[in-house]
Amino acid sequence: MAKAKSFTCTACGASFSKWSGRCEGCGAWNTIAQETPLSSGPGSKSLGAARGTPITLSDLSTTETPPPRTRSGLDELDRVLGGGMVPSSAILVGGDPGIGKSTLLLQGAAKFARAGLKTLYISGEEASAQVRMRAQRLGLSDAPVKLAAETNLRDILTTLDAERPDLVIIDSIQTMWADNVESAPGSVSQVRAAAHELTSFAKRSGVSVVLVGHVTKEGQIAGPRVVEHMVDTVLYFEGERGHQFRILRAVKNRFGPADEIGVFEMTGAGLAEVTNPSALFLSERGQPSPGSVVFAGIEGTRPVLVELQALVAPSSLSQPRRTVVGWDGGRLAMILAVLEARCGIPFTGLDVYLNVAGGLKITEPAADLAVAAALLSAREDAALPADTVVFGEISLSGALRPAPQSENRLKEAKKLGFTAAIAPTGGKTGTDGGLALTRAADLTGFVGEVFGAG
Ligand code: TYD
Ligand code: MG
Repeated sequence: MAKAKSFTCTACGASFSKWSGRCEGCGAWNTIAQETPLSSGPGSKSLGAARGTPITLSDLSTTETPPPRTRSGLDELDRVLGGGMVPSSAILVGGDPGIGKSTLLLQGAAKFARAGLKTLYISGEEASAQVRMRAQRLGLSDAPVKLAAETNLRDILTTLDAERPDLVIIDSIQTMWADNVESAPGSVSQVRAAAHELTSFAKRSGVSVVLVGHVTKEGQIAGPRVVEHMVDTVLYFEGERGHQFRILRAVKNRFGPADEIGVFEMTGAGLAEVTNPSALFLSERGQPSPGSVVFAGIEGTRPVLVELQALVAPSSLSQPRRTVVGWDGGRLAMILAVLEARCGIPFTGLDVYLNVAGGLKITEPAADLAVAAALLSAREDAALPADTVVFGEISLSGALRPAPQSENRLKEAKKLGFTAAIAPTGGKTGTDGGLALTRAADLTGFVGEVFGAG
């Protein structure tokens, strides 16, 4: 009989038959822990051996009314949820410890409670008194939220069954303890079991469940990825420690668009909504300076203007530095290669630093052209005019591709006082949004147009 696999990686969920210091699956160190195997595998009876109850099948044409949603009134949160909270949805909110998850969810709980949802906040990390003190600091003491400090999942489920709230917040999933699983709270099997119990409770009872999950250094929600698969919606709360901006990002949403973001600012009195993120990401901008370029981006359904900063300096290293914050390092390497191969502009012997201001992380390929502009501006020590935005995708051939939603990008730039834009030719022409529009078909054309060289 094969030996049961009883060791599991707490980072990626891969299982092994013996312990090792490094997970072969994801390469993480010290993440392998012993697990009590579930009662399946050789020896247990196959499901086909005994007959089950036939399930009811239906047609695709069955008419369903869209789920009723409740808005909290915290617009940045409602939008990321897809327009409000859907009953019986299971939502995971992940983020680094200390980033502000508990603050966000206490504020959200208070808003939903005031909007009429019967709301419970269960803290497994802090004592009730601590949560009450935070509520006081946030000015939420009078919100009709029911509070408990508890980690015993059985007791929590029994209470939920009796109370029948509309919404329950579990802060955090890593502190929950299911007494039918023989491992410590925070272990993969505990997190998995607790998440399973709570999500199936949500489906069965119509209660919306929000699970808070801490993220590991590698950026994964501690515990197996299975938690992400179990829930309907996965939100990440991100931000830089030194910055007060926080971004709530939907990475999965069965009830709305993924990739939507909500922007908040951490203040002394909790999280404040930022309704005009562009103004925020540009607020630190002063005089035009070499290496600084404004990218007209789209985050979810909203246009967001953000400043890219590049620094190019002679390197003393045999392998010059390539440092990126807020953008993809591989994509930077690609743009440097295209600049060298297609425009004959090498970056050999030069250190390259690229930073997205304000702590925002950009994933759009449409940022390519703005990155190239920032790199060239830094290399040539020539500032772009301060009132210009840039966007467009660069292909390996050096050709420029139009970006989606050009019109929205231009509109937002116009709204914020920009007067000029640089974008690829093609796409919807004629929509200059009232800006002086410079168009280029390829990177060489762009370099000639903007920096006066070929
Ligand atoms: P918290 O919500 O406890 O983070 P998490 O639950 O993600 O671990 O918030 C942590 C930080 O937020 C803490 O260092 C203090 C800061 N904070 C403020 O700046 N203003 C506030 O009003 C509150 C409540 C917290
Ligand atoms: Mg917390």
